[in-house]
Amino acid sequence: MQIGLISDIHSNYHALKTVLQFLDGKIDVLICLGDFVGYGPQPRECVDVFLDYSLSHFFCLGNHDLGVRFRYSQHKQDPSEKDFEILKTFKFRESAEVMLDRNAQDIQEDHFKFLKNLPFKQIFQVDQKKIYITHGTPSVRRRENVGKYLLPPPLQEPNVTIDRLKHDKKAENADIIMVGHTHRRFLIRREKFLSWSLIEDILQKKQTKFPLQYSFENDRIILNPGSIGQPRDGTGNSSFSIIDLDKEIVEFHDLEYQMNNFYKLTKKKCVPEVQDSSFWANKFGHFSEQT
Ligand SMILES: [Fe+2]
Repeated sequence: MQIGLISDIHSNYHALKTVLQFLDGKIDVLICLGDFVGYGPQPRECVDVFLDYSLSHFFCLGNHDLGVRFRYSQHKQDPSEKDFEILKTFKFRESAEVMLDRNAQDIQEDHFKFLKNLPFKQIFQVDQKKIYITHGTPSVRRRENVGKYLLPPPLQEPNVTIDRLKHDKKAENADIIMVGHTHRRFLIRREKFLSWSLIEDILQKKQTKFPLQYSFENDRIILNPGSIGQPRDGTGNSSFSIIDLDKEIVEFHDLEYQMNNFYKLTKKKCVPEVQDSSFWANKFGHFSEQT
């Protein structure tokens, strides 16, 4: 059983298309951990792909998905009170706010329905493995599910991350926990306290070669695949994972896409800060915590 794991597309259809073409025929299940939209120029195209998606799949809601669906519901004069209660506790940067508005103006009713139906978290079983997915942090609080960062090691020690799981019994009992939101890939083995992150490799000046295989035999893990549309951990390429459940191996991938065509489009449809290539291809390991 092969699971394709993606997250944080951010309306970057050029990157999404390249990754889905790569995964085609290689996976049995697709999991996406949210932030389908926000920041980028093509929210409609990015959601269209999943409106009628034939492969078995599990998705959850990101903070930018929440922002776009709320703004769309406002335009329809039918704002969701529950979404507003969560959103008012977040602080998006100014360019993010403007792009949430533009994305909300770009989508149509079927895209809105897709975003509206995304759950804050999902717990399900594939083969014998209990899997828990959420965008930010495993928690019983929805605000933390979409908006709280679970940082990669060494920015947060693995034992601190593992300790956080006590806040949600269902997470404590899961075999594989998958999170996104930071746009930075990592893997933590829970019983063995072993971990890997690309940031750690960069800080230690290691040359990381992709695809990178990491075994988790007989261990429970916490995993972040990085970001499809806006990686923030060093290479600038789309990052995602393939999990082989039978062999208990996570394979981290790093895939180049047609960035030049994408930047041309951002110049037409995005605010100036978001037009800059360094915003989408963070090659210098810059560790800002802004959403
Ligand atoms: Fe994101």
